[in-house]
Amino acid sequence: PRKIIIDTDPGQDDAVALLLALASPELEVLGITCVAGNVPLALTTRNARVVCELAGKTEVKIFAGCDRPMQRALVTAEYVHGKTGLDGIALPDPTMALQDAHAVDFIIETLRDLPEGSVTLCPLGPLTNIATAFTRAPDIVPKVAEIVLMGGAYFEVGNTTPAAEFNIYVDPQAAEIVFKSGAPLVVMPLDVTHKALTTRARIEAFRALGTRVGNAVASWTDFFERFDMAKYGSQGAPLHDPCVIAYLLNPNLFEGRHINVEIETRSELTMGMTVADWWRVTDRPANALFMGSLDADGFYTLLTERIARL
Ligand code: BDR
Ligand code: CA
Repeated sequence: PRKIIIDTDPGQDDAVALLLALASPELEVLGITCVAGNVPLALTTRNARVVCELAGKTEVKIFAGCDRPMQRALVTAEYVHGKTGLDGIALPDPTMALQDAHAVDFIIETLRDLPEGSVTLCPLGPLTNIATAFTRAPDIVPKVAEIVLMGGAYFEVGNTTPAAEFNIYVDPQAAEIVFKSGAPLVVMPLDVTHKALTTRARIEAFRALGTRVGNAVASWTDFFERFDMAKYGSQGAPLHDPCVIAYLLNPNLFEGRHINVEIETRSELTMGMTVADWWRVTDRPANALFMGSLDADGFYTLLTERIARL
């Protein structure tokens, strides 16, 4: 199986991404590293454990990471995810322990111990942990097989400011470090995730599984939808983060372009914008496979089939 580290700020859509990974034998989850984002670190570390316990995977190692962005003050998104970050269904408080090590140390040590190109990083939140690890230990960058992340936007522009997507907006300095790192990058921007819509039929398919996990996924996507429908007027809400894990399982669900992507870190007006050279109008070298389209039915078929296994 492919070795992955999931870096996350759960978040209902992060939670579904974690479940998809934990249900998939093609992936070996070396660890889950938590970061402050949708909600503060104390809640993201709680929520990651709630999700692993729900999946019956209490052996998974979970680490607490950075509690704030590299330079800016933390911006959270309770208005999207609710007070706990996982509103929608009440689940028991977790009893599994957090690991003692800091997430950044875990990332550095794990990568140092393995040969080049052996670990895929899957960031689902602000890039603070990954950028801090790359800054402290640049020698680990060649150990990364690929970084497949949810963040940014091009045609769909911003969901947090008119110009910026949440994960990049929260820590643009970290995003800049990651996008300039030279590690192979696959980006799932809003252009893709806004096509992964939770329609009624898709939510009911989770509920119809008749399992505890299926019911939780239905309740979370249902909660998520209430907010996003009002915002976008679309049928169903975008299920962002599971796109990252789905790509590892079936990259053919996605299409994109190898292009140059730079991060805006100076102008307050456009802070955190992913300036993506989609039409290749500059000669700046490509640093990312920036996705643009998705086979949404294929994505939901895969997701539902995997959730059924838990
Ligand atoms: C991203 O922001 C968070 O609210 C979601 O979990 C997702 O990672 C979407 O912009
Ligand atoms: Ca997230």
